[in-house]
Amino acid sequence: MEHELLTIKNNALSLILDAADRKELDEIKLQFLGRSGELTKALKGLSKLKKEDRPKIGVVANDVKTIIEDAISQREQALGKVQKKSINIDVTEPGTKPALGSLHLVTQAMREITKIFESIGFQRVRYPEIEWDWYAFEALNFPENHPARDDWETFFIDQKKSDKYGPVVLTPHTSSGQIRQLEKGKLPVKMLNIAKCYRRQSDVSHTPMFHQFETLVVGENISISDLKGTLDYFVKSYFGQNRKSRIRPYHFQFTEPSFETDVSCGVCNGRGCKLCKEGWLEIGGAGMVHPNVLKNCGFDPEKYTGFASGWGVERVLMMKDGIQIDDLRTLYGNDLDFLKQF
Ligand code: DAH
Repeated sequence: MEHELLTIKNNALSLILDAADRKELDEIKLQFLGRSGELTKALKGLSKLKKEDRPKIGVVANDVKTIIEDAISQREQALGKVQKKSINIDVTEPGTKPALGSLHLVTQAMREITKIFESIGFQRVRYPEIEWDWYAFEALNFPENHPARDDWETFFIDQKKSDKYGPVVLTPHTSSGQIRQLEKGKLPVKMLNIAKCYRRQSDVSHTPMFHQFETLVVGENISISDLKGTLDYFVKSYFGQNRKSRIRPYHFQFTEPSFETDVSCGVCNGRGCKLCKEGWLEIGGAGMVHPNVLKNCGFDPEKYTGFASGWGVERVLMMKDGIQIDDLRTLYGNDLDFLKQF
């Protein structure tokens, strides 16, 4: 019996020492000390021994039990209470770069346009996008029945008309900024108004929300050559030094004379191609501020003159070399795969 107990002890100790983790140790504990474990069974067998042998063997049996229990608790400590998985970390490995956002290409264009005009003394301004009819149309010399004042063209806000300023609209163009600027009563003015505009249209070349950039220069002796010079400076700075600009007669309510402004085509260098037909691409409207607009804002048109222009941000962006977007609506589709390219 004594021999049997010593064999159990030796087996148990060598297994305990070899146990690789807590789970294995728990199994060994069960194997020897569990209800039907090897030592438990041996202890039960004590009762079958001769009476005189029992005390001596009983002492040995208890010693074996204590030794095994101590060995288990020591090994438990050595293995740690909670088993940790070993993780190999290579601290020299380069980290994962966090994804960086970038500016939307329309924002990039607006910043570039701002820089160009600021470099020749224009000041960027911001005015309301939800505006009274007075600023969007009336003070800009639009007659009452002009088609732009129809709700097929312009978004009207569901709000009570003002006796003085009429209904409320989403600004259909940045020209409303001309009136906001002039009503401040200070001249000279050299304003750049870049803002969102809203019109009821959506197709490959139109989105219901888009952006315009509007210039307004008013003072003494402002002439068409100032307009032409500014247009040319913008065209060369934005599109490239080899590009040319031109103005041709047109009609707008708030300018007289009025012009359409063009830039020479970058694809054929003004010779004429499939894209431009005759060598020129239109970039937007311009003109000399109409005397009625100056009068509406309290200035004497005999004394002061000015020029204005209003061009589309998305339009010049798309005309810039290298950017070909066949549907303007993709600009606002929020498809990151598309936007990340710029
Ligand atoms: N507001 C006009 C439009 O949206 C563009 C425009 C034309 C603006 C002539 C001007 C201008 O300042 O002088 O179609």
